[in-house]
Amino acid sequence: MQYIRIRGGKPLEGEITISGGKNAVVAIIPAAILSQTPVMLENVPYIEDVFVLRDILVALGAKAEMPGHGRFYIDSTCMHNSRVPDELAVRMRASYYFCSALLARFGEGIVPMPGGCAIGTRPVDQTLKGLSALGAEVSSDFGQLHAKASRLKGAEIFLDCPSVGATINTLIAAVLAEGQTTIVNAGREPHIVDVASFLNSMGAQIKGAGTDVIRVYGVKALRGSSYTVIPDQIETGTMMIAAAATKGNVLVKDVIPTHMEALTAKLVEAGCQVDEYTDAIRVRMQARPKPVHVTTLPYPGFPTDLQQPMAALLSVATGTSIITETIFESRFKYLAELQRMGMRVNILDRVALIEGVPQLMPGRVLVTDLRAGAALVLAGLMAEGETLVGNTHYIDRGYENMEQKFNALGADIARISEV
Ligand code: EPZ
Repeated sequence: MQYIRIRGGKPLEGEITISGGKNAVVAIIPAAILSQTPVMLENVPYIEDVFVLRDILVALGAKAEMPGHGRFYIDSTCMHNSRVPDELAVRMRASYYFCSALLARFGEGIVPMPGGCAIGTRPVDQTLKGLSALGAEVSSDFGQLHAKASRLKGAEIFLDCPSVGATINTLIAAVLAEGQTTIVNAGREPHIVDVASFLNSMGAQIKGAGTDVIRVYGVKALRGSSYTVIPDQIETGTMMIAAAATKGNVLVKDVIPTHMEALTAKLVEAGCQVDEYTDAIRVRMQARPKPVHVTTLPYPGFPTDLQQPMAALLSVATGTSIITETIFESRFKYLAELQRMGMRVNILDRVALIEGVPQLMPGRVLVTDLRAGAALVLAGLMAEGETLVGNTHYIDRGYENMEQKFNALGADIARISEV
């Protein structure tokens, strides 16, 4: 097994540049097949999920190239296949964006039930509801998502919850549908807005992305474009929390500070100094954090994807913090690993009571999902001594050059294959 070895206890100091947004790009790449002319994406993070999407595109008959510097070229002119291969679909949640994209492009999309982090049941009923309202015959039988329609027609869709995936799938299917589609109770996450901006750059007519009512005016065809992906909101937050957790001083660059408001507010409450600039945020911390209460919510609330790194920080708070996870029912599994490093925590269903300790101890821990990976690496950076973090493949799915970035800030992290 590969491990990330961290010799912790050093404050992070310096400047770091954030990569393009994973949860934006994993939807933008499938959406790119709506154009029958080539698309060039910029600021694409070279991470495992993106490599899987490239392999899916190739399996579907498209050209997909990654010529370096965060560029991703897609030419789907010769695409011929409507079925995403099983072994690729199960490697990530976002593979199901191909279902709506293939439906819109070819009238049929078949995607084996998507994989992704095991953090809850992760139903797909709202995606089925959206596609079905647009006139598709949909099913999720026999372990696959299947959507078929000779013609998609605009409709009014009320989502039961502001699901990121259902909002994006419905958007992708609606842009080439006939007439107007209204998505009510839509998700407002920055990555949803970025997908809409990308589709608009190709000629779609989407209004209201970023609010809870999105209107799509169907167009006949889309043309390729050159598009730059937004910075990763969760990598930004991870770096901000890491600066605070190591009592460091870090300028996090190439970010959109307004995307970080929920986290910034909590860090300030915990005693951090946070300075915002046009496209950068500086986080400074000198003492142990004060305890805070965090409740995860859809955007603009506190993101569930930062709940795990935040717990690492609060493990050394000067009192008891409460974290309430409202989005995913099984997103506390990693706390058992943090307990091995000295965290004191009681879990009552979706509530974690974290009693701060003066410091964490180094240890050998296993990552349970992507953001748990970030939390455990942060814990390793905080604890004085050598920590080994195993199951690193989860981290590679979503963080570009994580070790190099932390090392550039003065950390001592290395990837090792034997211990
Ligand atoms: C996206 O997952 C992200 N993944 C997740 O990031 C993120 O944690 C999540 O949004 C919430 O922000 C990608 O963008 C690829 P949802 P998604 O549909 O789309 C319920 C990471 O670490 N729901 O917004 O799967 C569901 O059970 C990953 O980067 C339904 O009930 O999330 C959950 O409680 C992990 N029916 C809530 O909505 C549905 O049809 C939010 O899920 C869909 C969802």
